Amino acid sequence: MERLDKLLAATGKWSRKEAKALIKAGRVRVEDRLPKGPEDKVEEGSLVTVDGRPIFTEKYVYLMLHKPAGVISATQDAKEKTVLDLLPKDLRRKDLFPVGRLDKDTEGLLLLTNDGALAHALLAPGRHVDKVYYTKVDGDLEEDDVAAFAEGITLGDGTVCLPAGLDLISEREALVTLREGKYHQVKRMLASRGKPVVYLKRLGMGKLKLDPTLPAGAWRPLTPEELADLGR
Ligand code: URA
Repeated sequence: MERLDKLLAATGKWSRKEAKALIKAGRVRVEDRLPKGPEDKVEEGSLVTVDGRPIFTEKYVYLMLHKPAGVISATQDAKEKTVLDLLPKDLRRKDLFPVGRLDKDTEGLLLLTNDGALAHALLAPGRHVDKVYYTKVDGDLEEDDVAAFAEGITLGDGTVCLPAGLDLISEREALVTLREGKYHQVKRMLASRGKPVVYLKRLGMGKLKLDPTLPAGAWRPLTPEELADLGR
């Protein structure tokens, strides 16, 4: 059993304050009945509606986070601030985790969920979901670099990368498209070309694109369209 306002806030769609206001305004029903107030206890899996539309209170949460630099892609850490620390208290459920990792200094799209099957579908080697990064480098990018990416870069330690996309925006800026996710991969690929990364931001993961209106450090729930694109 969980408080109704907390349950609504745990979807990520409303703050606790907004949830209370919705309940007080009579816009929320539990199993077709008007609740007495925000503190009403509701059983998990109950049919809760807001303005007649069902809210999925039971299981999965899907949030898009614009990760800022300076936080780590972990669920908890004794010293460092994590991506979960950017969420309001009601959403800091123990079971949420980031789908894939971005380095501490990397910004951009991070999906937070508790849907392990989705994480597997997006991350499993062999699924080859495209990840797109915007990068700035120290050095001038050339067509040779584009060709080397297309062929498959061999890293300093001998690791061979799958063919990748390098789309030049200017001499020092490019979009990198990877179909795999090795440790520090973009940085290591560009370092192997003698053009170290000075800025990195993930813009997309499969069909999911970073919402350009979402400032660094902000998050929002995925839209129904984005969920459908992910098969949810
Ligand atoms: N490649 C990197 O080097 N760092 C990231 O954070 C993501 C991809």
